[in-house]
Amino acid sequence: MAKWAVFISGRGSNLQAILNLGSEIQVQLVVSNKASAYGLLRAKRHAIPIYLTDKKINWQDLDDKLQAAGVDCIFLAGFMKLLPADFVSKWSGRVLNVHPSLLPEFPGTHAIEKSFAAGGDMGVTVHEVIAEMDAGPIVLQKSIFATGKRSSALTLAEAEIEIAKTEQRLVTEAVRLWNLRHPSR
Ligand code: GRF
Repeated sequence: MAKWAVFISGRGSNLQAILNLGSEIQVQLVVSNKASAYGLLRAKRHAIPIYLTDKKINWQDLDDKLQAAGVDCIFLAGFMKLLPADFVSKWSGRVLNVHPSLLPEFPGTHAIEKSFAAGGDMGVTVHEVIAEMDAGPIVLQKSIFATGKRSSALTLAEAEIEIAKTEQRLVTEAVRLWNLRHPSR
């Protein structure tokens, strides 16, 4: 079974969805660049080792820790730092990210607000990570509008709730899909 590291920077609601998979997933390490990240408490509750980066991330040291923990794949779940190109190429094909828009629409930050303001479809994407931000091959994607039609009465707060629920569903589906595609790991 694949051995995962999950990178977080905040709430950790997507980390929690991944941990709720229980024995379907093996999380070896939770990495955060924020000591205040609530997701670190979630990791501690599941007795999962954590690695807190320095403000200036020492990517070589982080990579050493990942190797030492036997990690073979990484899930960026609300991780707000860009991975350097050499780190991405070393982990090429083995890093997933969840993003709160229907990429390639609205890459980068404030994706929910931007897609809401644009008035069109909204949703979530899980993609493979490449050096370019939010641009790798799409693994799973889902609109939050079942019929593809957006209600004119939809508020930003309601959209954010639907996005969060869809993210949590999609990250668990992505891990299951990964396990199917990489049974040996
Ligand atoms: C999520 O919207 C995620 O897509 C984005 O950061 C937000 C925080 O997620 N990258 P989480 O609750 O910390 O998992």
